[in-house]
Amino acid sequence: MRRKLAAGNWKMNGSVAALAQIEAMKPAATDAIDVLICPPALLVAQAATISGDIAVGGQDCHANASGAHTGDTSAVMLKEAGASHVITGHSERRTDHAESDENVAAKSQAAWDAGLIAVICIGETLDEREGGETLNVIGTQLAGSVPDGATAENTVVAYEPVWAIGTGKVPTLDQIGEVHDFMRAELEKRFGKDIAGGVRLLYGGSVKASNATEIFATSNVDGALVGGASLKADDFVPIMTALA
Ligand code: G3P
Repeated sequence: MRRKLAAGNWKMNGSVAALAQIEAMKPAATDAIDVLICPPALLVAQAATISGDIAVGGQDCHANASGAHTGDTSAVMLKEAGASHVITGHSERRTDHAESDENVAAKSQAAWDAGLIAVICIGETLDEREGGETLNVIGTQLAGSVPDGATAENTVVAYEPVWAIGTGKVPTLDQIGEVHDFMRAELEKRFGKDIAGGVRLLYGGSVKASNATEIFATSNVDGALVGGASLKADDFVPIMTALA
């Protein structure tokens, strides 16, 4: 049985004061689901000291454990700060920092090497969706971004259509189900039924309390990676509850 996962990606938002939101989410983090909050790197250590049953993750890591990489953060450092997860390959990193599937795979491997769970993000652009390329793009990104050695324990895959992120636009449930079924099938071909059957597949892109229940009932959706609606407990707790 795959445990449901409600994951929040705060992106470049938040502050020390905003950690009070994690405190406010804690009572809703029951045994029924897993909950993860990924604040900016500077807040990871402090978040981890107050998060209780809520896991804390980074939003990116370098592919190397240490070295001359000004401004970067390694998976080892995130782990030491108290993180258990790290997001890799978010489309904002792929766009802002020209990250390729190869980079994402190297970062995901670094995450595993440090003992972190990689939340590996993939998703098509609007042009690709309208051009009928969605499954090709997803297949290519999945193959290139998930390293050999993925297991149900070290990997979560998040499908985040780029055009749905922060836009209020959400794919139809059929579209979400089609991509999630496809991802599961592709993982099965590569890793076998047992491993692929345990890897959690999250949907991300304009998830909010009002659409969470129907998205969570969609085939092969094991939870959500939430941006804007994860910043405040008032918005995120109903999403957590919809999953439980
Ligand atoms: O990683 C989460 C994300 O990209 C979705 O953002 O604000 O559309 O929920 P949002």
